Formats: sequence, C-alpha cells, structure tokens
Amino acid sequence: MLKKVAILANGGDVSGFNAVIRAIVKTAEQNNVECYGFIDGYRGLLKNEYIKLDTYNTASGILPKGGSIIGSSTNANVFNYKVEENGQVVYKDLSDKCVQNIKDDGFECLFTLGGDGTQKSARDLSLKGINVIGVPKTIDNDVACTEITFGYNTAVSVATDAIDRLHTTGETHHRIMVLEVMGRYAGWIALESAIAGGGDIALIPEIPYDINKAADKIKERVKKGKKFSVVVVAEGAAPKDGTISIEATRDNGVGVDNTKLGGAGIRVAKELEKLTGLEARNTTLGYMQRGGTPTAFDRVLSTKYGAKAMQLALEGKFGVLAVIKDGKLDEVSLEDVVGNNKKIGAVSGNTAESNIRKVNMDHDLVKTARSIGICLGD
Ligand code: F6P
Repeated sequence: MLKKVAILANGGDVSGFNAVIRAIVKTAEQNNVECYGFIDGYRGLLKNEYIKLDTYNTASGILPKGGSIIGSSTNANVFNYKVEENGQVVYKDLSDKCVQNIKDDGFECLFTLGGDGTQKSARDLSLKGINVIGVPKTIDNDVACTEITFGYNTAVSVATDAIDRLHTTGETHHRIMVLEVMGRYAGWIALESAIAGGGDIALIPEIPYDINKAADKIKERVKKGKKFSVVVVAEGAAPKDGTISIEATRDNGVGVDNTKLGGAGIRVAKELEKLTGLEARNTTLGYMQRGGTPTAFDRVLSTKYGAKAMQLALEGKFGVLAVIKDGKLDEVSLEDVVGNNKKIGAVSGNTAESNIRKVNMDHDLVKTARSIGICLGD
C-alpha cells in the first residue's frame, strides 16, 4: 500500500500547475496517501525542502490560482548543477543527493510536473531507481507523446483575447497589427489563436516564411476594402533563408537550450510596413500567456492529469508520463518521451535527448487555416 508521495513543479510556470497539484492531493487523500510538495522544483528536491500538502490547509482554494503554490525552477538541472567552489563556478551531478533525500524521507513516488527538460531529469531519476510519474506541462504544447499539455489552452485563450483587441484598434487606424506569441520552436499557440481570433496571417516555426507572401495577402485585403490586417507571429518563426530572432541568452545551466527568443514580431512589422506602405505596430504578448487563472478547459485537463497520475501511482505504474492519446487519458514510458523516440518524427527539445512535438503539416489546424485563407507565409 502506497503511503507517502511527493510532487514537484519545474520549468516555466503555466496556469494549471495548482489544479494538477490539487487533483493529485485530492486523489491521494481519497486513498489515505500523504502528499508533500518540494519547493521550487528540482532545487527543493536537492535541498530537501518540502511542505505537507492537504486540501484543508496548504492546498485549499488553489484550483483557479495561477502560478504554483510550491514554486517552480527554470535552472535546477540536478544532473549538471551550478555550484561555486573556491570562487569558481563548476557544474556537478548532484542527483545522488536527490535520490538519497527521497529514500531517507520515505517518498514512494515523485510526481514531476514539467516540460521536456523536466521529464528528462525524471527519466534519469527513474533510471536510478526512483518511482517517478510525469505530468506534461507547457504553454508551448510541445511535449512529445501527448496531444495536449496543461497550460496551453489558457495561453491560446489569452492570445485570442489579445487578437480581438488588436482587431478593433487596427481597424480604427487602418494599421497592420502584429502579435508576437510564445511557443519556442513550435507554432501551436500562434496557429490556434490565429484561427480562434480571426487572424489574417500566422507565421510559425514549422513553415519558414516568405515575407512577400504575407505582404501580398495584406495588399489583397486592402484592394477588397479591408485596410487593416492582423498578423500572429510565433516567437520561433523565421524567414526562409533567414534565422530565428534571438533576444538574449538565458542561464538555465549547461546541456539545456539557453536561447531566449524574441524580436520576431517587430521584424515582421517593420518589413510589412516597408512592403505594403501601411503603418504597422507590434505587440509582444510575453508572460501574460503564462500567468493568471486557468481556463475552464485547463482546469479540467489539469484535474484529469493529476487524478490519472495518482491513479498510476496506486497501480504501481512508474517511469511513465500521463498523456492524452486519441482524446483519452493514457500513459507512455518516459523513455519514449525523452529518449530517441523514432515514432514521433522527433526533433531536438530543451536538452539533447528531449523530443518535442511540432506542428505537423497534415494537422487539422494547418488544414483549417489554409482552408479559410489564413496566410501561413508559404
Ligand atoms: O517554454 C515556455 C516558455 O514560456 C516559452 O514559450 C518561452 O520561449 C520561454 O518559456 C521563456 O522562458 P523564460 O521563462 O526563461 O524567459
């Protein structure tokens, strides 16, 4: 019988973290299992900092709350952890300390809420004998082997609201309104919010764009009487024969992708202004997409994921990621998620061993966008 489990939330935050935590804790309570939460993701695991979670005290009233009540860390790779020794920065594998902490305190399962980088460490802890169950989180919707991650729907909803607002100001001033959205190397947020918000052009990383095609679409709209256009640009979109726009370098440790994307929207706005003669303005939506209350969809999805994860623990199924497959809750081996998984046409993710799920050209969203005449820049 399972007695004691722990949760950690890791990576960039999303709306829905708390809803997953709540569902794990509630399902645990129904089965007389004690639940704890490590503070600030893998860093808390390393420092052995955790709190007791229960739905009458620490985990009460958290369903609609953004962020994570147990924090999250974006730079705590315990397999390559930054430490200072004799005034020098060195990177060390401190994972054995994490394993020891889990064993010493008697945690029989660790739930890892996070994206591909988080699940890579989860897989590696599982190889060291720890019972791990992953839950796929990210606004980018790019975790391999699942159809949807929690946090994504809220990001799309925030982006859709922004498109609606840009529409009215763009229409009033006869401008091209560009919205840069997040998503890293996947165009899910851009594509889905462009459809939801009635955008005219959506530029995504999976389709290197020809800016002249976008300009032609805008000119055609002007000819037909629409003197404004709305363009949604994924932060990872790049022109054909060009490169992605990089704003800065992050310090998330070694062995992970430290590129801070940014600037794709302003670049597109400037070029469209030149090519069309219309005024263009860029808005970069940024962290608005990650903060605040989750949508009803994300609350339900997060609750489903949390309940499923705890059920898997009760069944003794470890080393897996809770996923949605063919619209239903399921699980896949963490090895398939972060290993060399040939089934998903994998591409690189946040770590060399991660896979990410990009927008596929025969996905319904691509077909729908093309069908209604949204210009994808090709
Ligand atoms: O992966 C989630 C995400 O929000 C991306 O969409 C974005 O590129 C990145 O994180 C921003 O990361 P940071 O929190 O390091 O600025």
